[in-house]
Amino acid sequence: MATPSLKQRIAVTGATGRAGSHLVEILEQRGHDVVPISRSKGVDVISGEGLDEALAGVEIIIDTATGPSPSQEEATAFFLASARNLQRAGSAAGAKRIVLPSIIGIDRFRGGYNAAKLAQEQALLEGPLPVRIVRAAQFHEFVDQLLGWTIRDGVAHVPEMRTQPVAARVVAEALADAAEEGEMEDGRITEVAGPKEERLAALAGALFAAKGDSVEVHEERDSILVSGADDPDAVAYAEGAVLPNPGAKLAGPSFEEWLAAT
Ligand SMILES: NC(=O)c1ccc[n+]([C@@H]2O[C@H](COP(=O)([O-])OP(=O)(O)OC[C@H]3O[C@@H](n4cnc5c(N)ncnc54)[C@H](OP(=O)(O)O)[C@@H]3O)[C@@H](O)[C@H]2O)c1
Repeated sequence: MATPSLKQRIAVTGATGRAGSHLVEILEQRGHDVVPISRSKGVDVISGEGLDEALAGVEIIIDTATGPSPSQEEATAFFLASARNLQRAGSAAGAKRIVLPSIIGIDRFRGGYNAAKLAQEQALLEGPLPVRIVRAAQFHEFVDQLLGWTIRDGVAHVPEMRTQPVAARVVAEALADAAEEGEMEDGRITEVAGPKEERLAALAGALFAAKGDSVEVHEERDSILVSGADDPDAVAYAEGAVLPNPGAKLAGPSFEEWLAAT
């Protein structure tokens, strides 16, 4: 954890999401004045409804908002609009910085949601506010949704993927630490991941067993995440492109421990 810092007014977009809900709680526990932003709270980062009012007096914006679609086209449209709106409204409000959760390894992919996240990083880096990026591994809490997209006729066609999944709360702590840092270089990137490398297919087996679902698991290089088995992105997932790099913050619980506690 970062050294204790002064109380700040911090806006969290995506405040009701997997990472955002933990983040709001952690920042409040650390004594910050938190402004939660999501459509269910009457603020929309895409249409801009309520955004100027919500950001009044805010020093830091942590942008965890994401749309529901994993498609590259829809996710890119969402992120380009949210980046433009947050940079405009944030700088008008006199904010100091935007903190962004992103995904480890995205610069090694050509398409899909990873490419949309890279476009989001680049759009935010166009400024004017400086940006601090925390690239995370796949969240434990996301595995169920990801696997849901792969199931056809009782079979989960699980991407061949090496991953080091992490609890959303650990990612939220890393985002809170980034918000509390002092001066920083614009565009600084750090990584956060779980304690242990896993195969997504093994996580699928453990999750379905824990839920009592009789879904068969087939591990396949050709998956919903890629355009075919010979797509370079399929090879990247299989070869570990989303695994953390040296220097990443690694913290438990492991997926197994998280599952047992959930
Ligand atoms: N999930 C993962 O495994 C993972 C891994 C690495 C990085 N990340 C990144 O971490 C971030 C958070 O992911 P997550 O899984 O926690 O997201 P999530 O659970 O899907 O939550 C998305 C949040 O965005 C809000 N939202 C959606 N549309 C909005 C809009 N137009 N205006 C304002 N708020 C809006 C939603 O609330 P409303 O619906 O109420 O608006 C919700 O609070 C994302 O940037 C994601 O790319 C995720």
